[in-house]
Amino acid sequence: MRVAIFGTGYVGLVTGTCLAEVGHEVVCVDIDQAKVDGLGKGVIPIYEPGLEPMVKANHAAGRLRFTTDAAQAVAHGEVIFIAVGTPPDEDGSADLQYVLAVARTIGTHLQKPAVVVDKSTVPVGTADRVRETIARTLAGRGAQVKFDVVSNPEFLKEGAAVEDCMRPDRIVIGADNPEAVETLRRLYAPFNRNHERVVSMDVRSAELTKYAANAMLATKISFMNEIANIAEKVGADVEMVRKGIGSDPRIGWHFIYPGAGYGGSCFPKDVQALARTSQQHGHAPTLLDAVEAVNERQKGHLFELMLRHYGDVSALRGRTVALWGLAFKPNTDDMREASSRRLLQQLWEAGAKVRAFDPEAMEETRRIFGERTDLVLCDSAEEALQGADALVVITEWKQFRSPDFDELGRRLADAVIFDGRNLYEPDDVEAAGLAYYGIGRGRSIRLD
Ligand code: UDX
Repeated sequence: MRVAIFGTGYVGLVTGTCLAEVGHEVVCVDIDQAKVDGLGKGVIPIYEPGLEPMVKANHAAGRLRFTTDAAQAVAHGEVIFIAVGTPPDEDGSADLQYVLAVARTIGTHLQKPAVVVDKSTVPVGTADRVRETIARTLAGRGAQVKFDVVSNPEFLKEGAAVEDCMRPDRIVIGADNPEAVETLRRLYAPFNRNHERVVSMDVRSAELTKYAANAMLATKISFMNEIANIAEKVGADVEMVRKGIGSDPRIGWHFIYPGAGYGGSCFPKDVQALARTSQQHGHAPTLLDAVEAVNERQKGHLFELMLRHYGDVSALRGRTVALWGLAFKPNTDDMREASSRRLLQQLWEAGAKVRAFDPEAMEETRRIFGERTDLVLCDSAEEALQGADALVVITEWKQFRSPDFDELGRRLADAVIFDGRNLYEPDDVEAAGLAYYGIGRGRSIRLD
């Protein structure tokens, strides 16, 4: 099938590439000429495992093209995806200006029937606004063309996006017209083998499904962080509690890892946006507000642990902290809403210096913070330890999982580790003569 995709960001690029991989003819369109030129030469603006070779192979095969020519893309697509950004407004609601600009572009160029697909995460009711915008633009030029607007949210995880796209656990299609559902079923048929993955529903339910999925996952994380904070007070170990509850299939093992708070491009933004939608419709989002508040507090928790160890903030002045991890999670270079950003600011404000290493996010960190005397970007985890007083681990990259604690004991002047993702066993660290602070490890460090 012939597919056009507006937006070559994270979602658009991965979706377009996977659709080309299964044989569709895909044209990706973006307003950023430099990005389009780069993609045509195989320069991928994001790090995502498996994406680069797939982009190159499909581009070489002629099934995946990149352009800034919106008219050409609209003319090409029997299915036209909107996959542009929906950044948060000042009040946390999703800013729809880019989505609606694409709707106007589609209305300006549409000549033959098409199914327009909302792929961006958009508030309930957006498909209606997209439909009205296209209809108005068509009417403005006196054209009459049949089109449908469908909601088809993505559930891609950064770091596993290609895999998630090629092997989705569900394909949610929200449409008011059965013909449009059929068109998307044909499009996704190569991903819908062995058992039925398509869940079709009305447009608004599909739009709400996306927010509900992310808000539920964020809720699980904040819940566990709350339990971790209680564990610290009462002298229990949240890691034991996690193991004690996860085997109940009603709870499950996923997303019950306490840590330094959730970040990324989805959870913080989507929890806030759903709360705003809820308020706008006269419902007080009590639980969603609490999920966000717990996460905000949790992002400052590692620093609280440091204050606890050092006594007060003045003791951090002039110290050097080795920081392992910067990205909001492993296998990505994404720093959006990363907990590391909060910690860096807190350490700098306290007058500490940071020697940081992340396997992928060094460029991004340099872009965000520029050159500063209190930030040294290191080439390896090992190098970050040079001259450091303490170690903080904030992203659970595999390569940070089993360090030589004896060696760390010799290297860290203050002999202390702050483990923001509970990668280590307190006993192992303490056996090497180091002090250990994890999240919710109230058995080894009780914070009452
Ligand atoms: C998320 C959803 O998982 C995905 O389905 C949706 O399409 C987009 O949002 P992503 O933002 O890529 O994906 O990351 P995810 O792996 O879900 O992690 C989000 C954050 O939660 C990370 O900061 C991670 O460290 C944190 N997290 C996750 C925890 O703190 N504890 C957990 O148990 C799981």
